[in-house]
Amino acid sequence: MSDVPEITPEAVAEAVDAALAAITAASDSSALKTARAAHSADGSPLALLNAQLRNVPNEKKAEFGKLVGQARGRVNQAFAAREAEIAEAETAAKLEAERIDITALAARSRVGARHPLTLLQEQIGDIFVGMGWEIAEGPELEHEWYNFDALNFDEDHPARQMQDTFFVDPVARHLVMRTHTSPVQVRSMLERELPIYVVCPGRAYRTDEFDATHLPVFSQFEGLVIDKNITMAHLKGTLDHIAKALFGAEAKTRFRANFFPFTEPSAELDLWHPTFKGGARWIEWGGCGMVNPNVLRAAGIDPEEYSGFAFGMGIERTLMFRSDVKDMRDMAEGDVRFSEQFGMVV
Ligand code: PHE
Repeated sequence: MSDVPEITPEAVAEAVDAALAAITAASDSSALKTARAAHSADGSPLALLNAQLRNVPNEKKAEFGKLVGQARGRVNQAFAAREAEIAEAETAAKLEAERIDITALAARSRVGARHPLTLLQEQIGDIFVGMGWEIAEGPELEHEWYNFDALNFDEDHPARQMQDTFFVDPVARHLVMRTHTSPVQVRSMLERELPIYVVCPGRAYRTDEFDATHLPVFSQFEGLVIDKNITMAHLKGTLDHIAKALFGAEAKTRFRANFFPFTEPSAELDLWHPTFKGGARWIEWGGCGMVNPNVLRAAGIDPEEYSGFAFGMGIERTLMFRSDVKDMRDMAEGDVRFSEQFGMVV
């Protein structure tokens, strides 16, 4: 058995030195596993020396047995010690890698906020939908016929003048940026089946200065009802309901006589605002009235058979009253810090 090692103190020491060197050099558990296979497992020099004990003469068995046994003991101890060291280092490295600083500020992504006007507009729409009404729409670039003529405006009505209305070139096409949402009344009457119960929230345009209470681009919500036997009492009841839905149970409305070409009688609409910051009070909210028979006729509806009411309110004004916004320009400037005050509703 020439390739069988002979047990000598030198052979044992050499196997131990080689094992210890490999153990020290192993820097992680997989390297240690390789070292164990080479220096301690079956087939390793120490294991072969151990197997050789069988062939040692009896009188030498004790001496050689001790030599090899102690050598294996040292090597096994060294493996165990290195294994513990490596396990500790690996756990420490893992913990460090997975460390979470619970005192650090979370990296939030800013989600922004929807504009309070949009939210209010949707909320207003919901109130009407809750009453069974439909949402109506019309174009913001409107034909003069819908914006003025069909609404019974005279040729020389002041609203038709350049200083109030954005006329769009070429003037001969008679296009304007709608000055109110009332043209949607006419469109609804022409397009829809009777009876009609619609609300139209949307933008309108006037050549106003940009100041704390005026925006050249603003929004309104227009209501229109056409049915049989509709009276001003229905108008009043509807407006009181809207006022309460938006401003609380104590809110109510009152009428002051006024003139609009498309309603007769017409009224200026005041709102009793119970939680107004400066104290409960009446504030002007919008316009309303019974649809003028001339408007019904322009839309092909027989005023002998049908009657109706209409109203229009500014949404920016409504938001000002409701949320105590002092300057309307804040609603137009698009600073997210303004929008965020109204919450993160999506
Ligand atoms: N369109 C009118 C305005 O903008 C408001 C209004 C609407 C008045 C409906 C009466 C009926 O001032």
